[in-house]
Amino acid sequence: MWRSLVLTRRCISTSTSTSKPLSLGWFDHVKPAPKDPIIGVTEAFLADPSPNKINLGVGAYRDDEGKPVVLQCVRDAESKITGSEFLESISAGVSSRFVEESVELIYGKNSDVMKERRFAGLQALSGTGACRLFAEFQRHFHHDVPIFLPDPTWSNHHNIWRDAQVPVRTYRYYHHDSKGLNFGAFMDDIKNAPEGSFFLLHPCAHNPTGIDPTDEQWREISNQFMVNHHFPFFDMAYQGFASGDLEKDAKAIRIFLEDGHIIGCAQSFAKNMGLYGHRVGCLSVLAKDQKQAMIVRSQLQRLARAMYSSPPIHGVLLVSTILSDPLLKAEWIEELKVMADRIRSMRASLFDHLEKLNSPHNWDHIVKQVGMFCYSGLNYEQIDQLARDFHIYMTRDGRISMAGVTTRNVSYLAEAMHQVSSYDPQCQ
Ligand SMILES: Cc1ncc(COP(=O)(O)O)c(C=O)c1O
Repeated sequence: MWRSLVLTRRCISTSTSTSKPLSLGWFDHVKPAPKDPIIGVTEAFLADPSPNKINLGVGAYRDDEGKPVVLQCVRDAESKITGSEFLESISAGVSSRFVEESVELIYGKNSDVMKERRFAGLQALSGTGACRLFAEFQRHFHHDVPIFLPDPTWSNHHNIWRDAQVPVRTYRYYHHDSKGLNFGAFMDDIKNAPEGSFFLLHPCAHNPTGIDPTDEQWREISNQFMVNHHFPFFDMAYQGFASGDLEKDAKAIRIFLEDGHIIGCAQSFAKNMGLYGHRVGCLSVLAKDQKQAMIVRSQLQRLARAMYSSPPIHGVLLVSTILSDPLLKAEWIEELKVMADRIRSMRASLFDHLEKLNSPHNWDHIVKQVGMFCYSGLNYEQIDQLARDFHIYMTRDGRISMAGVTTRNVSYLAEAMHQVSSYDPQCQ
């Protein structure tokens, strides 16, 4: 590799250099990276001059005017912390309080895990950073063991584990005909995976399908994991967005805890606190006991130190201020419910409009799916036609970010979906 790099370099003599030729060819072998599908959608949307255009690609919450939202609890926390920051690194006290309060949200305040202090937790660079840190940990301590990702999943999961050089496999999740969970195939893939594999699970509001297993199905999944000694790694990017209730959305994790699993979890505050650019997240890994948890934590800290030393402090101060103040926390829970309810009401409205248009298709899945995304079932041609003829943009897998749907644009969207789908009986 090194030799080929040397051979492919171009050496160019400059007129000012009299002795050695200057090599400018260091990166001649670097090819452009493939475009991120979501960035491609945003670029096409921005380039479209139509006043009717709608961007349903980006998975970020918007209000009913289509505007980004800064939660009031975040504004209140902001005014509380003004002047309290110091530009060195965050104090150990703030960081451990943040971790404690974050993991309480997923494991439960009175859980055995919390009482026995069997968790290794670390502030992470939002959900992505938490996943990446776990992938590094996996590579260091179980380097040959594959991770199974759902098919489909958030596309960056593939990038994260591939770049961490962990073998990646997939398990079946989505059933195209029913537009629901392919539970039988999912269970078969759990049974047939090599014993002791890692599995990535979306505990709620699955991205991109919006389809979650029922509590009963989670129990069966957890049991099968016990039988096959698999490790469940939960990616919790949308706690509160599925049901509007933080506790309900943690139910899958609680079921695994009841069964005594050792689990890992990546948490993100990007969506549920609207802190996208602040990059606040938490990685936690359970252990047999407190002593082992401290050992695991020391290794996570070492890996994080080599990658980025320590994460930014402002966002974490905001989150820990909100979570540690009962009034601010109550305000957050209320605002989270408002966001989840708005998305649910847009699902209902889109569905009603399509029904009123006498669409020949069954659109039940729009209201059955939960969370930020609707996996519409529209095919490539229809998605291209939506962009070309109606200025409506979404990713090519037909995923609609429901946060981009508003009272004002929902009937236009329904009409467009009806027009592109009504002539093709196979369409969706
Ligand atoms: C399933 C899932 N995991 C993780 C993330 C990463 O989120 P963050 O912005 O917190 O890195 C996302 C974001 O879209 C996601 O959908």
